[in-house]
Amino acid sequence: NQIRINISINGESYEVQVDPEMRLIDLLRDKLGFTGTKEGCGKGECGACTVIMDGKTVNSCLVLAFQADGKEILTIEGMGTLDNLHPIQEAFIRNGAVQCGYCIPGMVLSAKSLLDKNPAPTEEEIRRGISGNLCRCTGYQKIVDAIKDAAA
Ligand code: FES
Repeated sequence: NQIRINISINGESYEVQVDPEMRLIDLLRDKLGFTGTKEGCGKGECGACTVIMDGKTVNSCLVLAFQADGKEILTIEGMGTLDNLHPIQEAFIRNGAVQCGYCIPGMVLSAKSLLDKNPAPTEEEIRRGISGNLCRCTGYQKIVDAIKDAAA
């Protein structure tokens, strides 16, 4: 009893069969190879698995794959490539905002979602925008600086 879904990921369409209980993160990582999406807690608390679905950030560990039927997903692979980074990614590097890197795909997508809605956020708005994304290394200040820089 698999379910056939149509999903757009980073602008490309995929038609896939999924188990009813498969999570979106597993579809992305295990079935389709978008391993830039990271799993931390697996229960909606850390934000490492953040992707953008129809313009809004979601925790892909909390969304079932079939719920993404007909939706547009943006993962970190759709933001930039090594030789053509997205300006937000460049700002993260410029500001030394990346340490172990595990939270960064989710951070970058939350930053994108924030800046798409609010191109000139205050520091407080930035902190609120990334409040669902936990980072154990940086103490957040450099990440906040990077997002401010990307907005400038
Ligand atoms: Fe999804 Fe932590 S892995 S929120």
